[in-house]
Amino acid sequence: MKSVETFRDLQREATEWRHYLHENPELYFQEHSTAKFVTEKLASFGINHIETGIAETGIVALIQGGGGDGPTIGLRADMDALPIVEASNKPWSSKRPGIMHACGHDGHTAMLLGAAKYLASTRKFKGSVALIFQPAEEPEFPTGGFRMVQEGIMERFAISQVFGMHNAPGIEVGKFAICDGPIMGSQDDFDIAVKGRGGHAAHPYRTVDPVVIAAQIILGLQTLVSRRTDPRESLVISVTKLSAAQAYNVIPDRVEIAGTVRTLASGLRDFAEREILASAQGIARGFGADIEFRYLRSVPATFNHTEGTDLAIQAARSLVGSASVNDKIKPSMGAEDFAYMLEARPGAYIFLGNGPTEPVHNPAYDFNDEALPYGIGYWANLVETILSP
Ligand code: NI
Repeated sequence: MKSVETFRDLQREATEWRHYLHENPELYFQEHSTAKFVTEKLASFGINHIETGIAETGIVALIQGGGGDGPTIGLRADMDALPIVEASNKPWSSKRPGIMHACGHDGHTAMLLGAAKYLASTRKFKGSVALIFQPAEEPEFPTGGFRMVQEGIMERFAISQVFGMHNAPGIEVGKFAICDGPIMGSQDDFDIAVKGRGGHAAHPYRTVDPVVIAAQIILGLQTLVSRRTDPRESLVISVTKLSAAQAYNVIPDRVEIAGTVRTLASGLRDFAEREILASAQGIARGFGADIEFRYLRSVPATFNHTEGTDLAIQAARSLVGSASVNDKIKPSMGAEDFAYMLEARPGAYIFLGNGPTEPVHNPAYDFNDEALPYGIGYWANLVETILSP
């Protein structure tokens, strides 16, 4: 296994790639110049099995090891940027106004390219590595990860295990964090329209006031977590949108409520869908109103498998030592579409320290180039651990 010093030369090159990608960010499913850049780099490393155009702009490239037959493992990086006006003031700031790499996917892409260059030149492993460059991690369903799985990459490239990595501001550079089981939450969204009977605000007794009913529904939803969910389980129900009439003297016909549901336990998604409807409907009917209800299932929880987690921990430890790998991080309630790949195949998702930078999705955020050799080294050691000849 290699220490991080092995990857210092690659750091210089990967920093140049990362800055190029940062200057030229692209939104979901529009990563055309990014995909072209990635494809050209992969070809220049002597990789000749490259499939492009998967889920619009996604790429899978295969590197065969020099150690004989063996399984194929998938390593995934995301490539998309966000609709944010950059305020990092870095010399490599976005040249595309209103679009920026605010989640570090430029760094993720550069690190997988660095690993590709190392693995294609050394090939000290059996079997094969499938490099997965995915578009559109950020948007609403259906995301790039979902679509790549739908388009059959796991079967077509005979991928048996799959691994993902994300930078984490607030964790020191050179440190890793992971946990067995769920590491990121699921994301579902809901809409409730309360249908009452509008009228003059001076005569509420002649109306069925959906504003008051909506207020009761919002409070009712709070008890689904506090009174109905086992406190040792994790469930978040947040109401985030509310719209009613626009006048002082009008009681509207209709009030719209929307919100999001996050959980680490898939059974609680069914509970939330069923009970939000029952609670809202029960309250509305009690006041002589009715509701329209829509529940949108988006990303599932990102679930780390035990064997994949152990392998990821082993690879990270071999790079930075046991003291720099937190193997029991508390899961985040944020969502990550790598979850779809972990539904399709076993594996694990790990966090890589990005140091004391701004949080992701902040206009002043920037991926930390000091983290590049750690990410590259993790991928390299992971492959040489799992596919040891
Ligand atoms: Ni991200």
